[in-house]
Amino acid sequence: MRFYINVDHVATVRQARRTDEPDPVRAAVQAELGGVDGITVHLREDRRHIQDRDVDLLLRTARTPINLELAAASEILDLAVEWRPLQVTLVPEKREEVTTEGGLALDEVRARDTTAEAVGRLADAGIRTSLFIDPDEEAVRVSADLGVDAVELHTGEYANAGRTERAEQLERIASAARLARKAGLAVHAGHGLTYENVAPVAAIAELEELSIGHSIVSRAVFTGMERAVREMARILRRARAHP
Ligand code: PXP
Repeated sequence: MRFYINVDHVATVRQARRTDEPDPVRAAVQAELGGVDGITVHLREDRRHIQDRDVDLLLRTARTPINLELAAASEILDLAVEWRPLQVTLVPEKREEVTTEGGLALDEVRARDTTAEAVGRLADAGIRTSLFIDPDEEAVRVSADLGVDAVELHTGEYANAGRTERAEQLERIASAARLARKAGLAVHAGHGLTYENVAPVAAIAELEELSIGHSIVSRAVFTGMERAVREMARILRRARAHP
């Protein structure tokens, strides 16, 4: 399973002062030394954290692939086609949200059309496409119909669930993962995963890729990025070896 780190949260600290530190590009270098397989960044329309300069520099300097998250109906799509990262994950974006709150609303005709158009443009540019969706049967089916390469299953509800609801949310993710795999899609997952809750998700055999950000960056404040990444990588390896 590939382990991607989301370094948006490093940029959030930098933007709190609109200065040049801490630098998410330097964080990516440290994360690579710790053993990540790739770097995830979300370039938002409001440029709240990651800036164009960060993506540009990461694409030119990272040793591992970049997974660029963006909203389909934004001018960022033009930038992505120009930049050609290995992979783009399409995500919903609302101006007021603190973080991405859920998967794409593929049950809405407008969202589906915008997504379809974006997927076509990205695929024509040779970019691997992934859709961030809720772990539901219908969302998986629509994604397969749209001809994407992968889906990223939203793990936020699992992460926020109380003890009693957690098993149910985990099974929801596992069942969506099985369905997506059967439909020929690569299966990714992410959002809200921590050192404490990641193991059962990482143990889902169909999962190929995980994107984890906030929990690692939070630990890195105390331990340094390289060590924080190594600790997460160890948990992921153990979960895969002894599911
Ligand atoms: N995947 C997607 C699509 C996201 O939007 C985010 C958050 O930016 C993540 C993964 C990582 O989530 P977290 O920071 O909670 O680990």
